[in-house]
This record gives sequence, structure tokens and C-alpha cells, in this order.
Amino acid sequence: MAEEQLERFEGAATIEKIASLCRRRGFVFPTSDIYGGLGSSFDFGHYGVLLTQNIKSEWQRSMIQERDDMVALDSAVILNPQVWVASGHVSGFSDPMVDCRTCKLRFRADHIGQSQCGRKPSKHPGEYSECDLTEPRHFNLMFETYVGAVRDDASRAYLRPETAQGIFVNFKNVTSSLRVKPPFGIAQIGKSFRNEITPGNFLFRVREFEQMEMEFFVPPADAEKWHAYWIDQRRRWHLDLGLRESHLRVRAHDADELSHYSSATSDLEYLFPIGWQELEGVANRGDYDLRQHSEASGTKLEWIGHEERYVPYVIEPALGVGRAFLAFLCDAYDEEIVADRPRTVLRLHPRLAPVKAAVLPLIGKDSAMVEQARALHSDLRKSMSSEYDDAAAIGKRYRRQDEIGTPWALTVDEQTLADGTVTLRDRDTLQQERIPLEGAKRLLVDRLAEA
Ligand code: GAP
Repeated sequence: MAEEQLERFEGAATIEKIASLCRRRGFVFPTSDIYGGLGSSFDFGHYGVLLTQNIKSEWQRSMIQERDDMVALDSAVILNPQVWVASGHVSGFSDPMVDCRTCKLRFRADHIGQSQCGRKPSKHPGEYSECDLTEPRHFNLMFETYVGAVRDDASRAYLRPETAQGIFVNFKNVTSSLRVKPPFGIAQIGKSFRNEITPGNFLFRVREFEQMEMEFFVPPADAEKWHAYWIDQRRRWHLDLGLRESHLRVRAHDADELSHYSSATSDLEYLFPIGWQELEGVANRGDYDLRQHSEASGTKLEWIGHEERYVPYVIEPALGVGRAFLAFLCDAYDEEIVADRPRTVLRLHPRLAPVKAAVLPLIGKDSAMVEQARALHSDLRKSMSSEYDDAAAIGKRYRRQDEIGTPWALTVDEQTLADGTVTLRDRDTLQQERIPLEGAKRLLVDRLAEA
């Protein structure tokens, strides 16, 4: 079936099932849970931290480590507020909102068709005769704060709503201190904050999230070519890490959807269980940002070569870590019946899996098996994230590892003590093979490298 024709998510996942597994297995918890939470804010638990780190390090590997034309940056969250005036965020980073004077709820004017009225049975806002909607009004999404002891207009600052501006305002620092020349990119991962009016769908839309953004500076005449190049690169990255091709598509924005800075944007859309939605944006920001900051700061942000001088155009792939986390989990989540019992498994790409290998003594109370298994685990963990587990029956321990997506389990049993071999169980095929204990680490290191 052609990608565009696929209308419904193919797989067992729903957002509710993913959220429930994440909580049950220690990936993600609602924040400040004991105080009743804070709408659409989350804390990451042990496996969530490991998965998040793996997503970020795969991004850094492909964006920075494996390239000659990229440098890294980690800019501050709170910038000089003039940055946000010049970038257009103070005046333009807003959503059109309508309020209902009857039920006192607020809705995004462009999402009325997906929003639920406060009355029961639930309808869309405006569909009851009692609904009394205001005209759309713009609501700025930036969180405000104050720097220093005095709370007045002069000390007002903002939590950044995108990491990108920290890159633009460092353009001169980077070009004058590092050996870069267009086409080149500056990549950064960091937290962003948006006072979203309609957050929801678990990690999909939240108010505090991490972004992985890269600004690629190119000669203006080459911008279109590089835009196409980055759309393709970023699409491949998601597919290489296991997203199904039928669940990923590229959609170019219509002119009326473009952000205030963009001359062209294509979204990589993923078929979430809630439908096709933006996973990552790849924008051609033209020379908008560098020109705005040059003008506002009085510092010329341009490229000066031997015989050339110009303001570069910028191509920007921007991806939310949490949104990628959700997409990878939705794609990996599977339920099946094995030996008459239900099994939930996360078929995560081994490079993303929080734990690569579980080491399990078949009988948790057998000291010889425990000793061998502990020794194998201590050796293995030097090369990859490994987990030792001797609690509960072996079947239960396998299921626990399946649910957190561990691709391999090594079981030490009686035969290990007799002939020095262990069982290697594959999460996806459930096949078990006997391999020498001696070579187990090497074998898994190789499999991980080839995955
Ligand atoms: N610098 C460009 C920029 O920020 P964006 O499309 O607003 O563009 C980029 O955001 C990516 O950040 C999105 O594609 C999405 O993955 C993620 N993102 C944006 N808002 C988010 C939110 N409220 N919650 C989670 N992720 C978000």
C-alpha cells in the first residue's frame, strides 16, 4: 500500500497502552505525582533516561561524530530578551485562541474540529446552542520569568521556546573560533519551553521538552538543494533506527501554515495511533534570523570568505526528543500470544534499547550459577548496558525484559557449569542458541555493531 494511503496505525499500540507500560516499567512518570501532577508534564525514570540518552547519542553520532561539516553547541536557556524580540517570537510566537464565555474553556482556533466542548455529551466547541465563543485572540506561548531581584519590565526574560536562537546569536563566535566554512552546521540538544494551550497525548505535546536542532548555513543559491538533502537524511535516520517505512511520510507545508521565519518547511510525519502528525520539521529559514539579529544587535552576522561576502541561508532539521521517544515506542510495541500466554514486547532497535543484554541464572538460589552469571554481567557491562536478574521464575524474567525491549538474554544453567556454554535468547524470534560463555561478550558486541 502506498504510504499516503495508509490511514490507520498498523500495530498494537495506543497512546494509553504506551503511557501505561511506561509507568509500569519505570520509563516515564507523571511529574509531581503525589501532588496530583502538573498537566502534561512528565519525569523520566531509569529506562526512560537510558532510552532518551540512546536517542540523543544516535542523533549526535549521525549529526556530529560522523560528519566533517558540523560543530556542537550548548547555549543558555535564558537569553537576553532582545533575542526574542529580534527573532519575532515576542510579537509572533502565538496561537490563535477562542474562549467560550459559557463554559470558560479556551481552545485553539485552528483545532476546533479536534477539541472537545466542556458539556456532556461532548461535542466540538460551538456545536451547542449555549456555546458562546469569542473572536480568535493571539496568546503568546513563551514562559516569562524575571532575572535578578526586581520584578519589572526591565528584568523580564523568557525560557527559550526553541534552541535555534542560541545557535544564531553564536554565529560570529563559532565562525571566528572554529575552522568552519559554509556549508556547515551547528547542532545542539537542549530543553525548550512552551506554554502550550492544548498539550496532550502523553509525550506528544508537552510544555517542557528537549529539542535536537541543527542549523545548516549554506550559500543562498544552494539552499533548495540542501533542504532536499536534509529531508532525505533525516528520513533515513528514523528508518535506520527502526521506524516502519509505511509509518513515515514527508509533507510540505502550505503557504498559510509556514512559521513566521520559514520560506519552506517539510514535516516528517509519523503515523501515530492518533493519526498522521508532525514528528520532525525540516525548514528553510532563509536568511531571516541572521538578518534580524544583525539589524537588532548591530553585529554583522555574515560569512566573509576570501572573495565573497554574504548572509548564509539556513536549513534547519528540528526534532523533539520526547516525540521521537513516543514514535519509537509506538512502532516497537507489540502484543502476541506465546505458548498460550500473552506477551508484550518492545521490538526496539538494539541501539535504542535501554538494556542490551539480561544475564539470568536459571535458578536464582544456585550459588554456582549465580557466581557465573554475576561474573558474566560484570564483564559485559563494561561494553554495553547489561542487567542481572535472579528474582522470580525464568519465564517471568524473560517477559520483564521483553517489556523493556532488551534484545538479548543470556541464561546460565546446569549445562553452563558442565561445558561452559550459555543460552542466548533472541527477543524477537524467541530462538535460543547455545554459545560459549567465553565468546558471549564478543558476540553481542559484534551483533550490536552490525544492528
Ligand atoms: N526551531 C524550530 C522549531 O522549534 P517546531 O516545529 O516548533 O520548530 C520542532 O519544533 C520539533 O520539536 C517538532 O517537530 C516536535 O518534534 C518538537 N516539539 C515542538 N513542540 C513540542 C511540544 N510542545 N511537545 C513536544 N515536542 C515538541
